[in-house]
Amino acid sequence: MEIKGKRIVVTGGARGIGEALVRRFVEEGASEVVIADLDLDAANALRAELGTAQTRLHACSVDAGAEPAIQQLIECTEAELGPIDLFCSNAGTGSGKGLDASDRDWERNWALNVMSHIYAARFIVPRMVARGGGYLLNTCSGAGLLANADAPYMVTKHAAVAFADWLSIRYRAQGIKVSALCPRGVKTTMLTNALAAGSPAAKAVLAGGEVLEPYQVADAVVAGLAAEQFLILPHPDVAQAIQRKASERDAWQAEIAALFNFAPARP
Ligand SMILES: NC(=O)c1ccc[n+]([C@@H]2O[C@H](COP(=O)([O-])OP(=O)(O)OC[C@H]3O[C@@H](n4cnc5c(N)ncnc54)[C@H](O)[C@@H]3O)[C@@H](O)[C@H]2O)c1
Repeated sequence: MEIKGKRIVVTGGARGIGEALVRRFVEEGASEVVIADLDLDAANALRAELGTAQTRLHACSVDAGAEPAIQQLIECTEAELGPIDLFCSNAGTGSGKGLDASDRDWERNWALNVMSHIYAARFIVPRMVARGGGYLLNTCSGAGLLANADAPYMVTKHAAVAFADWLSIRYRAQGIKVSALCPRGVKTTMLTNALAAGSPAAKAVLAGGEVLEPYQVADAVVAGLAAEQFLILPHPDVAQAIQRKASERDAWQAEIAALFNFAPARP
């Protein structure tokens, strides 16, 4: 898919990876971009900074983990602006926890990392099918293919990849294209705030390899969408790591446990 002339929605579009996507979509000549974020002030600031003659920008306050908010985002955008060509379910969250994660932590990760993708698909896919096609970009994570020290994050990101796979398989014959964006570490407030708080899960992300700038992720997204690839891997070595995990699961688990510094319990 070429970005030029397309109408695009990005959830969590005011900062981090979402902001980088919005900036890159403007550079590529999208016709309209809707920045849908919990933080309306940040979305408005980005809209005011980036608007061009070629691209109309819109900012709106949306909690991507709430079904009525996603339904309203899709219905209002299509009623007021026109059909959405590309819907980016990008907003996500982590907990930084393991067995100490509460039910509330699990529910928050489930709502934002998985249900937000399901809500978007529930309301946009039937509309896209009726008009002959459309594109969904779901921000998942390398943690959804490999591992992460944060249990709710790793589990829900695996579910997000599985849902994207299911969508792609189920609707490909009806013109629906799906890409799952799976970066490892990216220098955004999600990671830097967790590092500043001393999170072991965030330190493990650093140990896992190169941390990219958000614009590098946006570059990979534009290339991946142009090629209409399902998996978009801004860190190319994730592809080899998936093969290692698939072919030697026990050895892979031992390596990851050492990398994450999960030491044996003391007697
Ligand atoms: N940063 C990383 O290392 C990394 C790696 C892999 C995947 N990801 C994924 O990328 C996505 C974006 O993460 P980021 O690092 O850019 O985060 P970020 O914290 O830098 O930015 C997230 C943006 O989403 C908004 N947001 C938060 N909750 C929201 C909600 N409920 N509804 C709507 N907007 C909301 C925030 O206001 C912010 O503007 C997430 O799905 C995350 O899991 C991040």
